[in-house]
Amino acid sequence: MALQLGDIAPDFEADTTQGKIKFHEWLGNDWGVLFSHPKDFTPVCTTELGYTAKLKPEFDRRGVKVMGLSVDPLDSHRLWSKDIEETQGTAPNFPMIADADRRIATLYGMIHPNANDTLTVRSAFVIGPDKKIKLSINYPASTGRNFDEILRVIDSLQLTAKHQVATPVNWRAGEDVIIVPSVSDDDARKKYPDGWKAPKPYLRIVPSPKG
Ligand code: BEZ
Repeated sequence: MALQLGDIAPDFEADTTQGKIKFHEWLGNDWGVLFSHPKDFTPVCTTELGYTAKLKPEFDRRGVKVMGLSVDPLDSHRLWSKDIEETQGTAPNFPMIADADRRIATLYGMIHPNANDTLTVRSAFVIGPDKKIKLSINYPASTGRNFDEILRVIDSLQLTAKHQVATPVNWRAGEDVIIVPSVSDDDARKKYPDGWKAPKPYLRIVPSPKG
């Protein structure tokens, strides 16, 4: 059965461009992003990896560790990294798993045989400090992902993990949020003494809590 939200992200040990890594140990108490690429030396993947490397300060600021995976060997990853630096301006600055035997790709359901029976699709998992899967996406090989959207979701996940709020459509960090339905009006008044906007009783909008 496919991995689902709330499942523990399976642990593994893997050879990466930054040495052998035990996944859960490496994550420690941080958030994580694990994402797959169909193949080394392919154009869309090259752009995704360069862009993700540029976002490192944004991931660091949120306490998120990033790890990539493709089903090619380490020497190939290392050669390809030079191309990524040359063409995108930044080489991958996070570990890339060499998953030539597809062991980890299979563990995470990153190979979708009706799309391609040997290469991974573009999967991405966001993993919380409790090692549970908070977000999973799968894109086809032909469509590069939007890593700004992954950061946006992480902002929502980190905020909603701390406060009893949810984030509305197209929300961005700092914008108004929604009080979750499980919080009664009485309880909400204690937390939000200034009140809230309520165009409907179930749609209660408040300024975003800080942090
Ligand atoms: C790409 O990264 O450009 C790509 C990889 C596999 C199939 C199609 C495109």
